[in-house]
This record gives sequence, C-alpha cells and structure tokens, in this order.
Amino acid sequence: MPLLAIETSCDDTCAALLEGDRVLSSVISSQAVHDRYGGVVPEVASRHHVELVVPVVAAALAEAGADLDRVDRVAVTAGPGLIGALLVGLSAAKAIAAPRRLPLIPVDHLHGHVAANFLEPEPLEPPFLCLIASGGHTLLAAVRDRAGFEVLGETLDDAAGEAIDKAARMLGLGYPGGPALQALAAEGDPAAFELPVAMSRDPGLDFSFSGLKTALVYRCRELGEEGVAERRADLAAGFQAAVVDQLVAKLRRALEREPWPAVALGGGVAANGPLRAAVRELCERRGVRLKLVAPELCTDNAAMIGAAAGSSEALAWPGYLGFDAFATGPRSAR
Ligand code: KG4
Ligand code: ZN
Repeated sequence: MPLLAIETSCDDTCAALLEGDRVLSSVISSQAVHDRYGGVVPEVASRHHVELVVPVVAAALAEAGADLDRVDRVAVTAGPGLIGALLVGLSAAKAIAAPRRLPLIPVDHLHGHVAANFLEPEPLEPPFLCLIASGGHTLLAAVRDRAGFEVLGETLDDAAGEAIDKAARMLGLGYPGGPALQALAAEGDPAAFELPVAMSRDPGLDFSFSGLKTALVYRCRELGEEGVAERRADLAAGFQAAVVDQLVAKLRRALEREPWPAVALGGGVAANGPLRAAVRELCERRGVRLKLVAPELCTDNAAMIGAAAGSSEALAWPGYLGFDAFATGPRSAR
C-alpha cells in the first residue's frame, strides 16, 4: 500500500507516491509566476498552491498507476516555510486522509532534505554528515539515525540560495537565479574579482553570506552599469566561488572535528555543479563516501517528505484535524 506525500512549503507544489523507500511517482509544479517579482511572493504562492494541489496529487496518482483507495497513509510538510503555503498542503492532506480515516504524518521540511538520501536507488544509511543549502536554509546536520538530525552550524543571516538569488538579480538574471548564475559563471574567471569568503577564519561551523552580497553590491557600484554588463561572467564566477569556498570550508572543518563515514548534500544549492565537484574532491582526499542525490531530489519535492515520513510519528484520525502548520520552529522540535 503506497504512501502519499505532499509538499507546499514555498513555491513548488509537489506530490509523490512511495512504497517504503521506493519512489513510485514524484510530480513537481514550479510556480514561474514569481519570476516577474524577482522572488517568491507569499500570498501569490498560497493562491497558486490552492489551484495546483489537486491536479498535482492527481498527476502523482496517475503516474504511479494508483488511486486514492490504495493509499494507506498521507505525509505532509508541516513546516518550516511560508505559513499560507504550508496550510494549503496541510489542508489538502487532511481532506484526503480524514474521510478515509487514514493516519496523517506531519514532516519537518529540513528532515525531508536529509531524508532524500534514504531513497532508492543506493540509499545512504546514517550516520552521515549532511550539508543542506537552499533558498531558505543553510545548515550542517549531524544525521545519527533516520528519525532526525542535530544542527552543528547554520547561517547567521542569509541562506546560501537566498544570497545566490540576490546576486543573480544584481547581474540581471531571472528568479530563481541559481542555475542561471552557474551557467554565467562557467564563462567567467573566478579569480578576476576577489570576493570575501566569510567565516573562513571563524572556528565554528556557522555560515554567513550577507557580507559577500554587500561586497558584490560595492563591486557593481564601482563598475557602473556598463562595467557590470561587460564583466557579468567574471562577477558571477567570483561570487559563486566565494559561496562554494565557504560551504566547503565548513564541511571540511566538521569532518576534522568528527570522523564521519559519509557526506551528503541537500537543498537546491546542492544542484550546483562546482559545489558538487569541490565536495567530491574533499571527500576523495579524506577517504569519505559521498552521496549525491539527483538534482530533482535536491530541490523541493514530495518524495523526500515521504522518505522522512517513514521515521516520523503518525497521527491517528481524528486527532490531527486540529494539527497546525508552523512557519518556523525551535531546533529542539526537529
Ligand atoms: O531547496 P530549494 O528548491 O527551495 C528551498 O527550500 O529554498 O532551493 C532553491 C534554491 C534557490 O535559491 C536556487 O537559486 C538554488 O536553490 N539553486 C541553485 C542551483 N539550482 C537551484 N543554486 C546554485 N546552483 C544551482 N545549480
Ligand atoms: Zn527546501
């Protein structure tokens, strides 16, 4: 009997069907509408989730060749994320589960990014060290079992993806900026502009990206509009290199502190080619196994929520009808 998972924490409407750690189907509908605003507009995201959630669930069922009567549990992202967006997914999950008296499994979005590594093929079993870098979060997670994770360090200001999106915007690229920035950076020289690799001398495992973003603002101001247009590729390459260097420096430090048998990456920024290459080199040098999930499992998706559901508490009907989503949560709750 398959599990149905729903994810609507930001601007992607996602549904998946899973049988254990095997993904039967995974459908992701990204809301291109936010491009024109240069970022996600929460209220617009919620409205689009309302329109998309039923067709996306239907598409996931069709792709798996299943119907709702065969589903025996419903998992859904409960937070953290945009509260209005989360409520759409949670309401849809309750509406599907309650009439059928099915259990509901609320899942932490970040646990989902970690759990993407548990999926077939080649699942990675804990313990492992996981770097999660997305538009909303940047953290190093110590994953000692499937049920959760400990936060070893996290960003003190912007998330890595948020900084990348803002840099992309400064360079005239659309939203989300990550893939476009990566493509532009490939044509540039990362050493042409030296941008600060923040926190590199900080002995802790926390991250910071706001200084880097400000440094880019100043470089752009110095260059002027025409100068920026001429040197866009070099600026993109320098910025991307500084982000990758910081992420890899913290990962290296965490590996020096504790002997982890494996490293995994999660979150949208983990789809970044140069980051993947740099982490691969680090792991090869240290003799640590590296697990890289497919890019479509790095960015937001519901398959990862289904994977986390396997080790999350299921709520019985009708108790979950009063269960609420959360926009942010204390670390201890994760
Ligand atoms: O995990 P995700 O899909 O959504 C959040 O939970 O935030 O991550 C989206 C973030 C965006 O900031 C996007 O620009 C970034 O991931 N991203 C990338 C790449 N692909 C997506 N950043 C750098 N390089 C990429 N190839
Ligand atoms: Zn995410």
